[in-house]
Amino acid sequence: MSRFPENFLWGGAVAANQCEGAYNVDGKGLSIQDVTPNGIMTPRTEKPTEDNMKLVGIDFYNRYKEDIKLFAEMGFKVFRTSIAWSRIYPKGDELEPNEKGLKFYDDLFDECRKYNIEPLVTLSHYETPLYLAEKYDGWISRDLIDFYCRYVTTVFKRYKDKVKYWLTFNEINSIVHEPFLSGGINTPKEKLTKNQIYQAIHHELVASAKAVKMGHEINPEFKIGCMVLSMPVYPLTPNPDDVICAMEKEHENLFFADVHVRGKYPSYSKRYFRKNNIHIDIMDEDIEILKNTVDFISFSYYMSICESSDKTIKGSKGNIMGGAKNPTLKESEWGWQIDPQGLRYVLNQFYDRYQKPLFIVENGLGAVDELIVDENGEHTVNDDYRIDYLRNHLKQVAEAIDDGVDLIGYTTWGCIDLVSASTAELKKRYGFIYVDRNDDGSGTLNRYKKKSFNWYKKVIETNGEHLFD
Ligand code: BG6
Repeated sequence: MSRFPENFLWGGAVAANQCEGAYNVDGKGLSIQDVTPNGIMTPRTEKPTEDNMKLVGIDFYNRYKEDIKLFAEMGFKVFRTSIAWSRIYPKGDELEPNEKGLKFYDDLFDECRKYNIEPLVTLSHYETPLYLAEKYDGWISRDLIDFYCRYVTTVFKRYKDKVKYWLTFNEINSIVHEPFLSGGINTPKEKLTKNQIYQAIHHELVASAKAVKMGHEINPEFKIGCMVLSMPVYPLTPNPDDVICAMEKEHENLFFADVHVRGKYPSYSKRYFRKNNIHIDIMDEDIEILKNTVDFISFSYYMSICESSDKTIKGSKGNIMGGAKNPTLKESEWGWQIDPQGLRYVLNQFYDRYQKPLFIVENGLGAVDELIVDENGEHTVNDDYRIDYLRNHLKQVAEAIDDGVDLIGYTTWGCIDLVSASTAELKKRYGFIYVDRNDDGSGTLNRYKKKSFNWYKKVIETNGEHLFD
């Protein structure tokens, strides 16, 4: 008997803007990613520039058949990707969609289905059409709700027989920290008030709930989830001051899943809004719309953080959020704290709180890989560090399932090497498949299987039992 459920969805995840490339092909409009050559590290450029690795990505737009074949060889049951909104509505506020963009995703989902791979589709993954950022200041504007709903209705109708699992916004809570990346908000972060940010959040929450409602009307079989960046917060010491600070920090994050699952703002948000002078516009109809709650909760998990009442203590940063350093944990090459048990913790936390199915849609290790030629003359990477990372996390997933958590599936982040969201680098590799492309633009774009490729294949084949060999 396997420790994982019988129909557990094993697979991998990517996002359109980090792998497709073809940024101006077949009618695609520009997205915010096309003008951020250094990820979140430096301000954006006026126009796309050649040093922006996302313009070519890993050329998934042209090579997706080869890549999906490799995913099928690993035995993937599910493949998470996003639809690039600006392929469907190039500026974002048009009335009619771009047929060539729609056709691309028809072909992509058909290719998945050919191998019985279930597509899991993120509707908005850090790739708001640039025009919506420039003209409307992104999600600060209520107009975005209508534009998003038009886009979502279009793709729900078009792919209603090809896609069952949908996610409304990638890491929706990241907007608090990265308003341009996450919310397409053009006003510089330093100039934004908390009121503006929470107004934008409110618009996204309403849009997300509308998407759930419309999706269920278009196909009652749809499973529509929210997607949050999970980062468990531990008190740095047993001092009750630290414990309360950790609780408050957790509330800042849990707020997003709370609204999605409970259909209303949580009671603790009243105090937070009061304290931070937040007075957002909420229309009566919004309160009704928010009652359209999600079918499941999906999340990314990379690391945990600590919180201290001494706000000068920092020291640990992931790509979007950070906190105080946990002295008991090791770090990745990019300084992300590695905490497999944090994954069991967060699975239990969500399940205790919501009693709804969960889906881990991102987890993985970004590392520098060395491409070698093995004794058979094959190119490969001996990425034992990645295997260890994933094995340790998956063993904690098995523990959480044993704890009683209802888990739909697990998709590793960047199942094929892609461009990093935060630093826009290619040398930060996550994949089971190595892509020969470098940060200076060199490389053949050829694909090579890493050692972890066969390891993950075996994990899937044995429904997880290989983790315990
Ligand atoms: C998540 C994002 O925050 O982390 C992904 O949803 C991203 O888009 C992933 O790629 C890993 O982060 P990074 O910055 O290493 O690419």
